[in-house]
Amino acid sequence: MQSDDLRQRIRALAAEINEDYAGKNLLLVGVLKGAVFFLADLMRQLEIDCELDFMAVSSYGSSTESSGVVRILKDLDTPIEGRDVLIVEDIVDSGLTLSYLMKNLGSRNPASLEVCSLLVKPERFKVDPDLRYVGFEIPDKFVVGYGLDHAQQLRNLPYVAALKT
Ligand code: IMP
Repeated sequence: MQSDDLRQRIRALAAEINEDYAGKNLLLVGVLKGAVFFLADLMRQLEIDCELDFMAVSSYGSSTESSGVVRILKDLDTPIEGRDVLIVEDIVDSGLTLSYLMKNLGSRNPASLEVCSLLVKPERFKVDPDLRYVGFEIPDKFVVGYGLDHAQQLRNLPYVAALKT
């Protein structure tokens, strides 16, 4: 995905969010670290009232396979009871990390809880993630750039590319 493709798709996602949450005060929850670039570009396009918070989670497992056992490294700064919450993710692979986050945040009684993920790999889903907004569906390849890393490197690429193995 080239920078232009990303920009265009993000503009369209933001337009949908602007419409869906008109008149509301949306809390965007960025999942560190990969979602940071996407989140910043998406939020810049929002015209509704919105706030920002972050969570950092780590998944036990190998570097390319998530295990579904998730540890919270950084929790939200604010309570979300009664809030409209949108989780912003870089990529949903097995869906296990997201499923944990949905359960965890859902138990805090938000008014609404939805997900916006830039990328999804449907072939890899182990659970059926409930995704309200999706940027792009991609094949089962490991991708880097635009926030996505391989061993913490390559996040700075302005585009998304499949890593050659
Ligand atoms: P899941 O729990 O399997 O859905 O894993 C989600 C997390 O794994 C993402 O938030 C990324 O941090 C990481 N991840 C999964 N696939 C990729 C990829 O292709 N490139 C970079 N990181 C990935």
